[in-house]
Amino acid sequence: MASKIVRIKASPSIALVKYWGKSNVEYNLPATSSLAITVTGLFTEAQIEECDSEDKLTIDGLEVPPQRHRPFFDSVRSNLGVNICYRAQAQNNFPSSAGLASSSSVYAALAEGCSVLTGKQPDRKQISRLARMGSASAARSVWGGFSVLRAGSEHADPMLSENYWPDLRLLVAITSRSRKPVYSRDAMLHVAETSPYYKSWVVVAEENFRRAIQCVRERNLQLLGGQMRASYMRMFGTMFAADPPINYLKPQSLKVIETIENLRLSGINAWETMDAGPQVKIACLVKDVGQIRAALEKKANLGPHNLIETKPGPGPIILG
Ligand code: PMV
Repeated sequence: MASKIVRIKASPSIALVKYWGKSNVEYNLPATSSLAITVTGLFTEAQIEECDSEDKLTIDGLEVPPQRHRPFFDSVRSNLGVNICYRAQAQNNFPSSAGLASSSSVYAALAEGCSVLTGKQPDRKQISRLARMGSASAARSVWGGFSVLRAGSEHADPMLSENYWPDLRLLVAITSRSRKPVYSRDAMLHVAETSPYYKSWVVVAEENFRRAIQCVRERNLQLLGGQMRASYMRMFGTMFAADPPINYLKPQSLKVIETIENLRLSGINAWETMDAGPQVKIACLVKDVGQIRAALEKKANLGPHNLIETKPGPGPIILG
């Protein structure tokens, strides 16, 4: 069979307000609403081709076990009405499975690529639905700029374009390049089953989301920062209370958090967030990037190559 091939570039969706937990495990529907930015600077390049044997996905040269990608490719076949298998290779320009939302860019690229290969033109919400079956945060990466994925929703929605807040930056502090000990999907299920804080998290998260939306619309970083901090700290709270607890923090993550807290005390508008991993992402304004970088290099011992400056960027791009 002559196979068709497509190459796609997609970037991670970094949540300012987090999705954490599932309202439906089988369909991978989120229990909480999230608000995120698809960022520049970090990206996945994926090559997807049709094949007639069995699905195969490699990320950075490592084969992904079939049980992890099966729900995604099965959903592609049933939703796009095709009866074909896929072979995909994805390469990230940043550490994978380390809390930088690599699954969001990988599955957004795959959903886009599989859709292109059908030759039909599924709408973006359908591509977002497909991406969600790989990883719920990938449903957001299908859109550029600011996007939202509402609790229980099958697809993410675009919120504001990548040009809406031109001086906003997200500085990514890489504190460790090791793969995380527990996948976010497994961590969420474990937390939902064993953490006494999980039920309250699901309730309070909606208020964070509602307020953060307003702050982004008003481009108010000071108020947005408070919502971002509450969101990731409460998410971590559910993990610390799980049995056994889950801890993604590393000593250097705490150093970064402390440095950012001290910068805030000195009047710099900088607000950190974290995901299921040790990396810290800092929302700030472009005019303060130099000072924040200098403080992180000095106080948290981060080399310049471990500080990546990003900003809201485009959704997936077809490379050919
Ligand atoms: O989409 P997943 O299964 O990789 O989970 C993402 C979870 C967080 O990164 C912690 C939060 C989020 O909204 O992206």
